[in-house]
Amino acid sequence: MVDAPEGAGRDAGAAARVDQLRRLIRYHAERYYRDDAPEIADAEYDALVVELARLEEEHPELASPTSPTATVGAPPSGAFPPVHHARRMLSLDNVFSIEELTSWSERLERVLGSAALSDAGYVCEPKIDGLAMSLRYEHGRLVRAATRGDGSVGEDVTANVLTIRGLPHLLALAPAEIPALLEVRGEVYLPLSAFAELNRRQEEAGLRPFANPRNSAAGSLRQKDPAVTATRPLAFFAYQIGEVDGGIAGEGGAALETHSGALALLRRAGLPVNNEIRRVASIGDVAAYCAEALARRHELGYEIDGVVVKLDELELQRRAGATAHAPRWAVAYKFPPEERTTTLERILVSIGRTGRATPFAKLTPVVVAGSTVSLASLHNEDQVRLKDLREGDTVVVRKAGDVIPEVVAPVLARRPPTAVPWVFPTSCPGCGGPLVRLPGEADTYCQNLDCPAQQLQRVAHFASRAAMDIEGLGEQRVAQLLGAGLVHDVADLFALGEDAVAALEGFAEVSARNLVEAIAACRGQGLTRLLVALSIRHVGPSIAAALAGAYPDLDAVIAAPAAQLAAIAGVGPTIAASVAAFFSSPANLAVVEKLRRAGVSFASDRYRPPAAPVEARPLEGRSVVVTGTLAGFTREQAEEAIVAAGGKSPGSVSARTFAVVVGQDPGASKLARAEQLKIPLLDEAAFRTLLETGALPGDRPPR
Ligand code: IVH
Repeated sequence: MVDAPEGAGRDAGAAARVDQLRRLIRYHAERYYRDDAPEIADAEYDALVVELARLEEEHPELASPTSPTATVGAPPSGAFPPVHHARRMLSLDNVFSIEELTSWSERLERVLGSAALSDAGYVCEPKIDGLAMSLRYEHGRLVRAATRGDGSVGEDVTANVLTIRGLPHLLALAPAEIPALLEVRGEVYLPLSAFAELNRRQEEAGLRPFANPRNSAAGSLRQKDPAVTATRPLAFFAYQIGEVDGGIAGEGGAALETHSGALALLRRAGLPVNNEIRRVASIGDVAAYCAEALARRHELGYEIDGVVVKLDELELQRRAGATAHAPRWAVAYKFPPEERTTTLERILVSIGRTGRATPFAKLTPVVVAGSTVSLASLHNEDQVRLKDLREGDTVVVRKAGDVIPEVVAPVLARRPPTAVPWVFPTSCPGCGGPLVRLPGEADTYCQNLDCPAQQLQRVAHFASRAAMDIEGLGEQRVAQLLGAGLVHDVADLFALGEDAVAALEGFAEVSARNLVEAIAACRGQGLTRLLVALSIRHVGPSIAAALAGAYPDLDAVIAAPAAQLAAIAGVGPTIAASVAAFFSSPANLAVVEKLRRAGVSFASDRYRPPAAPVEARPLEGRSVVVTGTLAGFTREQAEEAIVAAGGKSPGSVSARTFAVVVGQDPGASKLARAEQLKIPLLDEAAFRTLLETGALPGDRPPR
């Protein structure tokens, strides 16, 4: 619900509130229908109408034929010649839940009789979020197109409508079938792909992006120059027959008995009719259709804001009749809103793990698509400038489905006079160092590797689920470790002692031990996760996997020239340059060395060593057991290498074991058994020699 604006207390008399609501609704209807520049989100407008309708129902003495609940749209702007609609173009009443939908059908049942309704069936149609249009075909030829206007008088936009592709200028019917007059009603809309393309062009030209497809469709249609409209790929769906006379429809349209039949005729005549439209038998089926449409609303390629439900039998439609505002035989089931307006309180900048400074909006919290939104990324400096977002603005916030919330646009008409254009800060909020935007780049960076804000993000990312996956180490705990001076970079995590951690607030002996153990356990995660964890620009899980597939270990990645990296499938020159630049920084290499000393495995978890040729199988018939973590092999790779050399790698030590390879933190029982049986123990270097030659170190000749 929208709050009562200044001066109107909720306790004001019903008459005063009704009066005020009518003025508010008229004002916003004009902004929406006449100027194509709404100042409030559709859901907030709908809420005003619902409140007004409720008050008018409770106080019938306040009813008025000029109330927005009894009228349609807004009077035309006068920019185009007026067109009088022979049959009024009505609006639709809205329902917002399945319960309200059921009440609507029960009311119809009472009026028409339940028997009549039970065989009648309903037609369910996506409610296209565009603008209503009336097309007049005389003897099969499109002669006039008019907007709905206030339902009685619209605007003549024929020249613009003629530019819409896919709209037949001649009906595709046999000559005898062609009606003398056919008025087709439907919705002009802008497909999402066309909308995205239009905004891409706007951005390229440095122009403000359009807020949504509906507004850009409406604006495009009311262009004075049809050549401009022609550059906007508008589309049309026919959803109703208005006036009709003769031809296949019979005298006065008498041959048409059902709405679904009328749609079939329109489709046969070559008009675009939505493929999602279904005829269903019962109100239960209607509810199922609505649920499915809601779930699939983002798969359609155009915006819909609900489902229109219509009685199929035209005779029943006539009997149900209409109010001055809307037919009784149809209703709009509106989806929960995905757009709301709220206040943009502040524009702040956050510093990421690579030093990128990202502007974000701090919003007055607002519920959008079922969740409260109070923060939204603004991506970069250019995005804020293009949208001309200013602190204090009323803004449209959008959250489509599970999509991340987005600040769509400011409502310019509600901009406070004091609002000033936003300027990107020149110093980092984390360390006070300079923020630098390199020429040709969209992003701005804090270049100080010691910036505490960056350190926090880097360490938290290192520990995160997609990276080293250290359980129990979230951003808050990382902040604590940094704040206590225990950690500066990611390698410091491995040096943490239980006592030092236990001394921190919120930790006890057990939780400290668990954390230190979880950190130790991540050392063997392998190269893919390690590469992700290092916070190299552009390197996420899939690029890391590509690199780990191409090189046996981190040292090989570090040594690889950029040109070689760029040749790996999926990598390319930009990412290759970023990887090479990362490993050319002495500060980053120092962290890598600290990680090596801490025992973090650099071995690839994806690299497959080329199989040894058959003739060279130095371990033929021999068993080699591996225990503990190796620096250059994951456990799996070590076992594969033994097998590739012709040997076996069982899980336990026996008298038949040829040698035991001992890494860091070996299994105590394996070690004891090997010593007991006097089986040679090999370090990693000796293991490599064994794999290549079959020889054991020292004076022991190969057995
Ligand atoms: S039927 C008398 N069918 O929704 C009934 N309208 O909120 C006329 N709309 O003015 C409307 N898709 O612009 C109908 N499949 C559909 C529709 C549809 C979108 C629009 C139409 C109408 C508005 C009412």
